[in-house]
Amino acid sequence: VSPLPDILSPAFAADPYGAYRTMRESAPLIHHEATDSYLVSRYEDVERVFKDKAGEFTTDNYDWQIEPVHGRTILQLSGREHAVRRALVAPAFRGADLQEKFLPVIERNARELIDTFRHAGEADLVGGFATRFPVLVIADMLGLDRADHDRFHAWYTTVIAFLGNLAGDPEVAAAGERTRQEFAAYMIPVIRQRRDALGDDLLSALCAAEVDGVRMSDEDIKAFCSLLLAAGGETTDKAIASVFANLLTHPEQLAAVQEDRSLIDRAFAETLRYTPPVHMIMRQAATEVELSGGTVPADATITCLIGSANRDESRYHEPDRFDLFRTDLTSTNAFSAAADHLAFALGRHFCVGALLARAEVETAVNQLLDAMPGLRLADGFTPAEQGVFTRGPQLLPVRFSPASG
Ligand code: HEM
Repeated sequence: VSPLPDILSPAFAADPYGAYRTMRESAPLIHHEATDSYLVSRYEDVERVFKDKAGEFTTDNYDWQIEPVHGRTILQLSGREHAVRRALVAPAFRGADLQEKFLPVIERNARELIDTFRHAGEADLVGGFATRFPVLVIADMLGLDRADHDRFHAWYTTVIAFLGNLAGDPEVAAAGERTRQEFAAYMIPVIRQRRDALGDDLLSALCAAEVDGVRMSDEDIKAFCSLLLAAGGETTDKAIASVFANLLTHPEQLAAVQEDRSLIDRAFAETLRYTPPVHMIMRQAATEVELSGGTVPADATITCLIGSANRDESRYHEPDRFDLFRTDLTSTNAFSAAADHLAFALGRHFCVGALLARAEVETAVNQLLDAMPGLRLADGFTPAEQGVFTRGPQLLPVRFSPASG
């Protein structure tokens, strides 16, 4: 059995998958000293923690993990309080709102970004598109001032650094808390103005939403918007980059998707399984619990290793192979709660933005493929992923036949 590298080591950040396999096989429950948390790596354990059928797990860990940057969000809530809050925000992320109000926003932002490089014949799909597109979409959905987009991007980058600060760097922590103040100073006046003049945007919908007599306060809405920038920005960014990295390194599958665009959905689902944007999500044990034959004490933090669960050989045939045609993805779509993968988690906190993410990825991949005939990686470049908490390629230089019009 090979030794387990520390999850905070550079070797792990470079390639966690070998370590995940060793953990699943020989140490499916281990206490990790530096983060003082129990690492859970098998599909069945991660699934059980997320589904939480017996009420054994809470999200109380988010009180210290995200409260300092976002304030109190839907992720910290449970029971009826969570159900009501979820009902307040969920309609904006599906159905008619998504199709009629927000799909045009998604399509326009994709087109405008692609127009900045479609004539060049070369681009970095990460810096030139993936890291910018989802934040632009969310800010536009909320109806925020386009002139402030660079600030949103800077804020969300600081927040993500805070969330991924597993080693506890005090400067990263302080920057995250400063961001919370700055975001509040920006957002609260915008929310107050919007309440006085409701429009057709997401922020207005959040101001007006009411379920069982409950409405969101200015502080609730500000915290939710802060969460949206991070939860919907970083994740979708990594998803788009990873879909392209996976297809570009499997040219026969890229050719199939170019030919038949209905396969984008499967490429997205398989990407979420094979290279999920979020590799770890934490929970807290409400009571002492048994997991994979070991015991987790009450109140302990549990780190669910999604990146490992999604490669569990007891769940997937040849899990280390990227194959959008694989038959052990039970559904054909990327967001099914029946869980082809655990990239969106499961249970009550299952990603509320899953359909929005799918619409963004589908639109982006479709438009990029249209604009980039002959798409290939730049000569000699091999995509490499990075990141322990969120993970994806940092650079994706490509070449293609430039648009003439
Ligand atoms: C929840 C992943 C896109 C908003 C989650 C969770 C995961 C996740 C793993 C569960 C967190 C937990 O249980 O602790 C992803 C991935 C995405 C994505 C991989 C892209 C591929 C989005 C988008 C939005 C969004 C586009 C909205 C703009 C949220 C919110 C929650 C959440 C608000 C909390 C739901 C709740 O607590 O009930 N997401 N997400 N996500 N996501 Fe996403």
